[in-house]
Amino acid sequence: MIIGIAAVDRKGAIGKGGKLPWHYPADMKFFRETTTGHAVVMGRKTWLTIGKPLKNRLNIVLSRDLSIEPQESLLVLGDVESVLSFNKSLSTELFVIGGAQIYEAFLPHIEKWIITEVPLTVRGADAFMPEGYLDEFKVEDSKSLDDDLVVKFYSRG
Ligand SMILES: NC(=O)c1ccc[n+]([C@@H]2O[C@H](COP(=O)([O-])OP(=O)(O)OC[C@H]3O[C@@H](n4cnc5c(N)ncnc54)[C@H](OP(=O)(O)O)[C@@H]3O)[C@@H](O)[C@H]2O)c1
Repeated sequence: MIIGIAAVDRKGAIGKGGKLPWHYPADMKFFRETTTGHAVVMGRKTWLTIGKPLKNRLNIVLSRDLSIEPQESLLVLGDVESVLSFNKSLSTELFVIGGAQIYEAFLPHIEKWIITEVPLTVRGADAFMPEGYLDEFKVEDSKSLDDDLVVKFYSRG
């Protein structure tokens, strides 16, 4: 299963200046617990902000420039098709973890979204979720986290 996971502000913003525009330990814990033991795919820019492979997960980085230094638990792939065909050999879920370009590129292939609703409107944000990304989805479940955060679980409906 291919699952998109993101934390999104009231206007669809997800990033500013190459970083997350907030710090919510409860959401980071939720993200870690949800994705541990699975594979994650991210864009090169998100990879740069994380800086090292996320522990106990297979990390896939999408980049057209395949010069990223190989290391354990890291696979660098050059296009969406390669990720999709690699996914067929996976026995775990594949989480699409951003950023904006990667959510856009995987949108047609995402079967579920897990969205943390961030109760902010970030000024000067420069990375956003794709327009209408939830249009073909419906809420199946929700969960409250600390810091007034709500996570919604969406499936294609
Ligand atoms: N709120 C959240 O949940 C969340 C989650 C993740 C990230 N973010 C934020 O999102 C922002 C980064 O997003 P972004 O859109 O600027 O960058 P990104 O999606 O992380 O990475 C973009 C890079 O990915 C590669 N790429 C993109 N599409 C590709 C394709 N179809 N085939 C091959 N490679 C492809 C390219 O790398 P090359 O240039 O190497 O070819 C491109 O420069 C940051 O602010 C980050 O903090 C937020």
